[in-house]
Amino acid sequence: MRAARPDEGLVVTSNKTQKPLLAALAGERQPRPPIWLMRQAGRYLPEYREIRAGAATFLDFCYTPALAVEATLQPIRRFGFDAAILFSDILVVPDALGQTVAFETGEGPQLAPIEDAGGLARLRDEPDWTKLEPVFETLDRLTTLLAHDVALIGFCGAPWTVASYMIAGRGTADQAPARLFAYRQPKLFSVLIDRLVDASAEYLVRQLAAGAEAVQIFDSWAGVLPPAEFERWCVAPVASLIAKVRAKAPHAPIIAFPRGAATQLHKFAGMPGVAAVGLDTSVEPGAAVAALPAPIALQGNLDPLALVAGGPALDEEIDRILRGFEGRAHIFNLGHGILPETPVEHVERLVARVRRP
Ligand code: CP3
Repeated sequence: MRAARPDEGLVVTSNKTQKPLLAALAGERQPRPPIWLMRQAGRYLPEYREIRAGAATFLDFCYTPALAVEATLQPIRRFGFDAAILFSDILVVPDALGQTVAFETGEGPQLAPIEDAGGLARLRDEPDWTKLEPVFETLDRLTTLLAHDVALIGFCGAPWTVASYMIAGRGTADQAPARLFAYRQPKLFSVLIDRLVDASAEYLVRQLAAGAEAVQIFDSWAGVLPPAEFERWCVAPVASLIAKVRAKAPHAPIIAFPRGAATQLHKFAGMPGVAAVGLDTSVEPGAAVAALPAPIALQGNLDPLALVAGGPALDEEIDRILRGFEGRAHIFNLGHGILPETPVEHVERLVARVRRP
């Protein structure tokens, strides 16, 4: 367990913290922050586009260990990031719960929407773990393929974010369908959230058992709820999910990414077991440093569009972020996922600048 220590504390080195990412998650400040990017694997890489044709559907791709391993490793080979994130998707959980999930090229995810008690009743009580076996196999294979200083990150979606896709059946601008459902049928909605808390906790525990060294919880749609709803559908379920993970994997470092949580970020930083909080692009580094006390590590928060733009604007943003988190355990990352139109040279430039002596 991580002992609380003052911000000015000594850098502690132990076997567990040899990898720069794990050191940051243990609260250690480093001369240069470790770096990885959300959605670092994917369509902006020509080598990903090449292997993507190896499976008929995106889900088949995720469930084929040889392909998922290769996609996970591609950004590590090209850029030498400090962490590899499992190649998969947050929507494999609804898929394993029996909902119909498909990814249409250019249109994002399409699910058979849950509209009422009948839709909920058609879900399984527990995920079909045999369906997710390839994910654990992928992690297991990766443990022997990564260099000694590269950490392996597993992940899941937070209950609210996953539920919002399960209700709407697709991505929307504001996830209004799930918000309406939660207002109109809170009891039914809480059944779905509870099911996702249990499934996601066990899913993360199994990822950790298979070789993930840290796990990230993506609450990409945390920012659309008013305070009471936010408390009920984001904060409480994530806290419960984390408590369940900790009951079986007490030392697992957990990264919470509540996108759009703004003035409520401290609620995630305060959850026992949260080692780092991922910050979206809107968060001012100084405000996060003040609101989220050490030893919590801060992850973020370059604007993905600055990475698309490149040039002096990118350099300035990188430097502003490095300065803003100076003196804190910091993990350099984007404020949200990398965009498909991102030029790979800009990613090279970013890594070189962050690692500049
Ligand atoms: O490097 C990585 O991080 C790869 C693993 C990964 C993917 N999705 C692969 C993916 C991770 C961690 C995710 C998380 C995810 N998936 C989130 C949370 C993070 C976020 O971005 O907010 C969400 C909300 C999803 C759901 C999802 N999956 C959407 C909305 C889409 C369509 C978006 C788009 O750009 O088309 C996906 C598809 C998806 N997931 C792709 C990838 C590489 C693109 C599909 C393809 O390559 O065919």
